[in-house]
Amino acid sequence: MTAPAVPQRLAAPAPGWTDTVDVVVIGSGIAGLTAALKLREFGSVLVVTKDVVASGSTQWAQGGIAAALGPGDSPEDHLQDTLVAGAGLSDPAAVRALVTEGPEAVHDLIELGARFDTLAGGDLSLTREGGHHRNRIAHAGGDATGAEIERALVAAVKRADDIRIIEHALVLDLLLAADGAVAGVTLHVMGEGQLDGVGAIRSRAVVLASGGLGQLYAATTNPSVSTGDGVALALRAGAKVRDLEFIQFHPTVLWLGKSAKGQQPLVSEAVRGEGAFLVDHDGNRFMQGQHELADLAPRDVVAKAIMRKMLATGKDHMLLDARDFGDEKWRVRFPTILASCRSHGIDPVRELIPVAPACHYSSGGVWTDLHGQTSVPGLYACGEVACTGVHGANRLASNSLLEGLVFARRIAAALADDLPDLREPADDGRVPGLVNADVVPELQRVMTVGAGVIRSATGLADAGDRLGRLIEQPAGEPGTPSWEATNLVTVASALVAAGTAREESRGSHWREDHPDRDDTVWSGNLDLTLAGDGNSARPATAFVALKEASEGK
Ligand code: SIN
Repeated sequence: MTAPAVPQRLAAPAPGWTDTVDVVVIGSGIAGLTAALKLREFGSVLVVTKDVVASGSTQWAQGGIAAALGPGDSPEDHLQDTLVAGAGLSDPAAVRALVTEGPEAVHDLIELGARFDTLAGGDLSLTREGGHHRNRIAHAGGDATGAEIERALVAAVKRADDIRIIEHALVLDLLLAADGAVAGVTLHVMGEGQLDGVGAIRSRAVVLASGGLGQLYAATTNPSVSTGDGVALALRAGAKVRDLEFIQFHPTVLWLGKSAKGQQPLVSEAVRGEGAFLVDHDGNRFMQGQHELADLAPRDVVAKAIMRKMLATGKDHMLLDARDFGDEKWRVRFPTILASCRSHGIDPVRELIPVAPACHYSSGGVWTDLHGQTSVPGLYACGEVACTGVHGANRLASNSLLEGLVFARRIAAALADDLPDLREPADDGRVPGLVNADVVPELQRVMTVGAGVIRSATGLADAGDRLGRLIEQPAGEPGTPSWEATNLVTVASALVAAGTAREESRGSHWREDHPDRDDTVWSGNLDLTLAGDGNSARPATAFVALKEASEGK
């Protein structure tokens, strides 16, 4: 019997129109818009975004942006905290680029118009989050940092009338030249007039800044557009992905009941940074004694402690106590979280906040070098879709906005020096396919149960089998729901393959059958590519491990 195939290309109508530009930027969060603003200095730029410009994950970021900006802090201290959180898998050179270029990048953001919160004397107000030994998180609007950064970037892009933007457009696949280099993209635009339906944009380079993959799971802090499109299309183009097993579950997501699905409200770590603490249902604090930073331990430590408590007590959530803040502090410092709690009938000024871990961030993604170049010539990646080497096995809080900012600038600098020639797209013979759109709720359940916070060989094998059966269901018509479903299944299968391969617990990858970190075997990164025929076995094994995680394996 033929095994189910992960599609090598999305089935779609032939492009009805074409256009040409120097660089296509896919995504409009902090990484995509920063890249576009820099790239326009030497080439024509087109930003393609799935919804309206400000609809991605950036606008939901609460805590802030981490950088060594305060007195007594230094890039070296920031580097140390980042490496510790990364649990041995961060690339020190990538982290060094982040922490040394970060402060200037944040100052440039301020120049551009982003208004961060300041102290009475005008200095930036800096807070602390999990894993940081210093106050180095700049924030805006109290807990609306992402929304303010996105506002400033969107305003700057709109002022730059030479940046073209196509909204409501899903990029389907990369166009490849005969030598495998990028020649552009195919996309579907839900528009009117000429740019309507499936089209092709030829370009000299493509910058992937399409965000995350939180919709793989039943509950996530990510918006509905986060369907892993960038990782999926990069895999289909032959790119290598790295560290995909390291999915970060944010410890304190507002718990809205067992049946809550989709995007869930975040309760920022900054709430704990300002003094809130976790308690069990008897009112006992449980983070003290678990880590020197107690409630502000790195995110994986806190998420695991909450899960252990939930398992030990049979409860489906724990509680966060921030009643000491009082009304004024809640209103000024955390207006977004206060409003979201109150809209769900919880008054954090007087009541404990119910919280549980939910999928938050993909620390891995499309592998890049220090200049954002992927393994496919002409394809660059930055932001959550990328694996630059900064995060390793677990991202340090508030490093993600900074990473998007710094590496988008690095990509623009690299392309300014060496913009590739325009290539002729070739027929690459990739077999088109499609997954049925109706499988998504089951896929999210399968991933939550088998590849969620706590994993095991049996659970992952079961998840792989179930994903295979979802792929076998008869495909429907091409359209956004089935294209997104195909992307989700592709990424889910790769993630399950990576999680199965890594037989240890490290950072945010927690295997109950291999509970310890094993540096003798697993102190390296795990890279995957999509097998040449896309269907060499059931989906979880259709991904070929390029490099085993250690010399000895
Ligand atoms: C938070 O505010 O807790 C989230 C910040 C982050 O994910 O870096």
